[in-house]
Amino acid sequence: MKKISIVALLCMFSTMAWAGSDAEHSLRGDVPLDAPSVASHAKEWSVDNGKINRNYPQQPPLVPHDIADFTINQDGNSCLSCHNWNSEMPGATKVGISHFLTRENQALGNVSPRRYFCTQCHVPQKDAKPLVANMFRSLAEE
Ligand code: HEC
Ligand code: HEC
Repeated sequence: MKKISIVALLCMFSTMAWAGSDAEHSLRGDVPLDAPSVASHAKEWSVDNGKINRNYPQQPPLVPHDIADFTINQDGNSCLSCHNWNSEMPGATKVGISHFLTRENQALGNVSPRRYFCTQCHVPQKDAKPLVANMFRSLAEE
């Protein structure tokens, strides 16, 4: 009994600490899946200011443009209007074949569900301090 109440107390405190802290929020914020917005206009990204290069070949490239007006929800994904394999948007890199593969490596006709929520992996670029200490050195720095 005592054990249970200690656990309950700990849970309560950690929830309170979470609610009160300046913890980083997801790009999507509290926006539900059927709502239009993916990113807050309040954030200031390094927009259209040249690309920050990748540090290693498998890195998801950072997004070099504002994404606040692009929607990703259960009805559609507006990123794909420019980045899908058949898009005609000049200059927009097409998503690679990796984005069409299922977990079992089966190639689908459209972007795989596991690559649907682009901002899970691709974040708008910003010249920000790392949130946690990081000793990583890019290939170019070696
Ligand atoms: C209106 C067309 C358009 C839409 C919609 C769009 N993009 Fe882009 N995107 C571009 C263009 C054009 C570039 C190339 C710009 C540059 O290189 O400066 C680009 C570049 C990128 C890159 C960098 C690719 C590379 O090779 O380094 C990523 C990643 C990206 N976009 C992701 C996204 C995501 C995620 C969304 C949706 C939230 C999105 N884009 C919506 C046009 C678009
Ligand atoms: C699970 C993580 C993940 C998700 C989700 C994801 N990507 Fe990527 N993306 C990557 C990685 C890793 C790379 C670099 C290696 C590669 O091309 O597979 C990449 C590469 C890219 C590139 C550059 C391709 C090239 O040939 O240079 C574009 C453009 C891109 N993604 C756009 C998107 C868009 C648009 C979405 C949403 C429809 C998306 N990605 C969803 C991980 C992801």
